[in-house]
Amino acid sequence: MTSFSDLILKRESCRSYTGESVDTSLLMKCVDAARLAPSACNSQPWKYYIVNDEKNAQSVRDCIQHNNMNKFADKCPAFAIVTEQPATLKAHIAAQVHSQKWAQNDVGISVAHYCLQAADSGLGTCIIGWLDEDMLHEKLGIPAEEKIRLVIATGKPVEAQPRSKVRKPIEEICTVIK
Ligand SMILES: Cc1cc2nc3c(=O)[nH]c(=O)nc-3n(C[C@H](O)[C@H](O)[C@H](O)COP(=O)(O)O)c2cc1C
Repeated sequence: MTSFSDLILKRESCRSYTGESVDTSLLMKCVDAARLAPSACNSQPWKYYIVNDEKNAQSVRDCIQHNNMNKFADKCPAFAIVTEQPATLKAHIAAQVHSQKWAQNDVGISVAHYCLQAADSGLGTCIIGWLDEDMLHEKLGIPAEEKIRLVIATGKPVEAQPRSKVRKPIEEICTVIK
């Protein structure tokens, strides 16, 4: 079993997929992990749309590859489209009182759960923010009132060994207040 620390190192943005299809049950396991994420006032302001067939996958690619971006998605067989749902009234009011946008944080935490579960299941993911929201609404039939936050490319990775992480040193991002 992969330890949590190893899983953190294993999860990386996968930009090289074998092109093999992925069992829908594996994708649903990722969504279940996303479902179990914490959220402000347990509001759970997210919805996942899963695409796991070539016709719809191509529609998603069309929506994330403008200006020659995300070309790696050509060989990615499956995608999750993540929308932000209205927070519960309690969470919405509490966030406003504190001048925060908790729902957006909540979606991010949930997406992290999805990606970590995928890594644990031997799948690669890449979170994609470079997307044409209007086109996704239109091509995938996602209701216009749902704010599309992210797409998650999901598939079998070519690389077996994770890259080393490029990150700021811990001293730069953390101050221990004494
Ligand atoms: C909100 C968000 C949007 C992102 N959008 C893209 C994207 O459109 N295309 C892409 O290739 N990577 C995208 N990434 C992946 C980041 O580039 C990547 O997470 C970062 O460079 C760290 O690398 P790692 O994920 O391999 O550890 C995105 C990541 C996040 C969190």
